Amino acid sequence: AGKRTFSMIKPDAFGAGNTGNILKMIEEAGFGIVAAKVLHMSEDMAKTFYSVHEGRAFYEPLCHFMSSGPIMALILEKENAVTDFRELIGKTNPEEAAEGTVRSLYATSTRENAVHGSDSDENAELEASFFFNKFERVELTRVE
Ligand code: CMP
Repeated sequence: AGKRTFSMIKPDAFGAGNTGNILKMIEEAGFGIVAAKVLHMSEDMAKTFYSVHEGRAFYEPLCHFMSSGPIMALILEKENAVTDFRELIGKTNPEEAAEGTVRSLYATSTRENAVHGSDSDENAELEASFFFNKFERVELTRVE
């Protein structure tokens, strides 16, 4: 099995109907889907999820945005999942995101940037555990 990362399709992309296109990019990049769920976070839930950013200027508006509509939470598996996923989605600011990345295609601002991707293996597991228990994660067996 490969390594895992945690992702969210954020309210901007989910609400615009870009979930299918983004999942297609994720699968075509070689990621397996270990867990997926659609939910609408409360503002308190978003504040807990993003508590590492508490005190930063973008924290409150970020939490307001992340609870403004449904999201899709995902656990994804691939060799070098964290690094490769961050490469697939591109830089936080869509103006700096490389051509062809998810954010270059679907993000509209640094806040409303379509997708989340964990920044380390440790955070990937912490973030995944925030949304999913062990029964909600499958063991992938892939036919080559
Ligand atoms: P994400 O990868 O989910 O991690 C934290 C989020 O905060 C980030 O994506 C953006 O949505 C948001 N964010 C980070 N920096 C800024 C910023 N300078 N201004 C507005 N939003 C930001």
